[in-house]
Amino acid sequence: MSEKATLAINGKSYEFPVVKGTEDELGIDISSLRTSTDGVITLDPGFKNTGSCESAITFLDGEKGILHYRGYGIEELAEKADFLEVVYLLIFGELPTESELEKFHYDIQHQSIVDEDVKKILDAFPKSAHPMGVLCSLTSALTAFNPTSVDVRSEEAMYKSIVKILGKFPVLVAWTMRKKMGLPLNYGSTSLGYVENVLQMMFRQPNEEYTLNPIVVEALDKLLILHADHEQNCSTSTVRIAGSSHAGLFVSLASGISALWGPLHGGANQAVIEMLEAIKADGGDTKKFMAKAKDKNDPFRLMGFGHRVYKNFDPRAKIIKKAADEVLADLGIEDPILEIAKGLEKEALEDPYFVERKLYPNVDFYSGIIYRALGIPTEMFTVMFALGRLPGWIAQWREMRLNKEPIGRPRQIYIGKTLRPFIPVEKR
Ligand code: ACO
Repeated sequence: MSEKATLAINGKSYEFPVVKGTEDELGIDISSLRTSTDGVITLDPGFKNTGSCESAITFLDGEKGILHYRGYGIEELAEKADFLEVVYLLIFGELPTESELEKFHYDIQHQSIVDEDVKKILDAFPKSAHPMGVLCSLTSALTAFNPTSVDVRSEEAMYKSIVKILGKFPVLVAWTMRKKMGLPLNYGSTSLGYVENVLQMMFRQPNEEYTLNPIVVEALDKLLILHADHEQNCSTSTVRIAGSSHAGLFVSLASGISALWGPLHGGANQAVIEMLEAIKADGGDTKKFMAKAKDKNDPFRLMGFGHRVYKNFDPRAKIIKKAADEVLADLGIEDPILEIAKGLEKEALEDPYFVERKLYPNVDFYSGIIYRALGIPTEMFTVMFALGRLPGWIAQWREMRLNKEPIGRPRQIYIGKTLRPFIPVEKR
């Protein structure tokens, strides 16, 4: 007999089925709660205890520090796969064969032209605009130039929209950066690999050849893989909810970009570098900033520390810390910021405040250091996160549509005024 959970309320008791995932996670299926109990709901701000869907894409165990994409360990994927293979794996469920990968790459690269009129939209933004705002607007605007991408029901129509956005998004990323740097907007080449193409589009100068550095390619490839999916995080849940109204893929992704922008989520990578720079400018006293982070009357938090689900360590941070050391050594960069980062990490890992609250460095504590070493401007860091997270958002959106999930619409417990009579303005 399958397990049941019992709930007693108002003198009555109710039974709910318990669902078990393939990694033995347990969840109480309360989808019949409201109807069977005559209106009772659950209350869980921040959804710390709420599963919003059943998903076969990513498994993570925050206590044990485990992260798997479609059953493959993140450590193995970061070492052996390339980003495009991971993109395919996340979206379609299996690693591609050589011919599947070739076709996928071909389809993406041949969808990488963006309508010239998009440049006019980009042109209208001030140079000071934050790249995340620009990227979000341009991604949303792509819908207007590709109206057939909205009403996607068949798998074939979904595939077309997916390769379109995978082709055009890196162009938008590159253009967003180039606009900020005052460089001409260019295109890559269909003959280059996905990541190589991104780098060329971002960095090729109008007056010289761009030579790809294999160390830089590998570092970016790894970073994108590590950011590619993270199950039902804030931006992904946003994409799934926006898409659940059957809004098109591109605008659903634009909602995810907005959610990612915040410093408590993807914006943390920019915030980390800004924090490290502020510490350096202040004389490099990490202890002073540690004290600020622990002071409840001070809003300052140690950016890049703590995670909603990883309460032991972030497995991505382990990989990325090693990668940061390697990239800096390979490129011969000595960055005083890295020394401050290492000092902070050491102190935090030994400090009872951080130890008791299980606050460890997360993936973004080190990603910014690598982006910096690759010559990517600080304000672009969260955009790079979005580029990495794109396949995860797409995979989750596709799964939600194929599962025919209902529109996302949480309930609430109302705590406002009860019904009262209207008072005309002259009598208030
Ligand atoms: N610095 C100082 N104290 C912290 C920090 C931090 N970075 N993070 C959490 N705490 C403290 C809180 O003040 C709280 O203390 P209390 O129990 O005494 O009140 C306790 O640790 C628990 O913190 P919560 O905010 O409840 O933890 P939650 O799981 O809700 O938040 C979050 C996780 C948002 C990531 C938080 O740790 C944080 O703000 N970190 C800094 C921002 C950051 O690095 N974000 C990136 C996340 S990873 C990503 O998006 C890829």
